[in-house]
Amino acid sequence: MSNAALATPLNSPVQLDIRRVAGRIGAEIRGVKLSADLDADTVAAIQQALVEHKVVFFRGQTHLDDVTQEAFAKLLGEPVAHPTVPVVDGTHYLLELDSDKGARASSWHTDVTFVDAYPKASILRSVVVPEYGGDTTWANTATAYEHLPSELKELADKLVAVHSNEYDYAAIKPNAQLEAAEHYRKVFTSTVYETEHPVVRVHPVSGERSLLLGHFVKRIKGYGAADSAHLFNLLQSHVTRLENTVRWTWQVGDVAIWDNRSTQHYAVDDYGTQKRVVRRVTLQGEVPFGVNGQRSQTIKKA
Ligand SMILES: [Fe+2]
Repeated sequence: MSNAALATPLNSPVQLDIRRVAGRIGAEIRGVKLSADLDADTVAAIQQALVEHKVVFFRGQTHLDDVTQEAFAKLLGEPVAHPTVPVVDGTHYLLELDSDKGARASSWHTDVTFVDAYPKASILRSVVVPEYGGDTTWANTATAYEHLPSELKELADKLVAVHSNEYDYAAIKPNAQLEAAEHYRKVFTSTVYETEHPVVRVHPVSGERSLLLGHFVKRIKGYGAADSAHLFNLLQSHVTRLENTVRWTWQVGDVAIWDNRSTQHYAVDDYGTQKRVVRRVTLQGEVPFGVNGQRSQTIKKA
């Protein structure tokens, strides 16, 4: 861990009430009312918890609306709108994921990895919760790397993956034939991006290595389709092992913040036709670098 970035503030150190939710990832933070008025020490403590636990949860933030969610987000970084999906009316950055409009992120991914400097964090607020189902699951991509056999680590360290927003929807989302889902896909891919990322990313704050994969991966550079699929599945299966994950059952007003540089997530699509709405602000990230300093780069934007 980088001491400079993670040091507890010297003046009035804040001890957050942090309860781990699962063994390798996820913690609930209690006793904090999220708002733009939070003091700097509390914000620093949240940032530190975020890097350590990868996803942090806050219950009962029902006082937040779109405007105050955006205002709070600015304390943690620079909000950035989705590159292709329009923002919610009256907001600058907010992405709405509404089940009625075909937005069901039911496959493992890291947000927006089809661009080079993809978001460093996402702040998700629960607005409408189904009576049952609709949980979200996160996976720790750093412990996934850490638990690889050394030979696989050495292989992964050298690989580069091509990520695109024009991925294979039919294979990933067998239920995506709905008209709404097809419309969402068209908007989502209104500009097609392709970006090369190292498969192993070094975290700019903690220095941890993590597997940078997820559903935007189109192929492994230098390999054909079959070998790309084998390599992807081999490494991705270590990300999604249940021991490596945490699952959250939403209540209205919950906020989840995840470090998008060291996690993947999956919105479980098990709530049928019930309505589910969440709203997200993402924070501008850095261009990733691999173990030898190799940088990601966008190779196509059309
Ligand atoms: Fe997502």
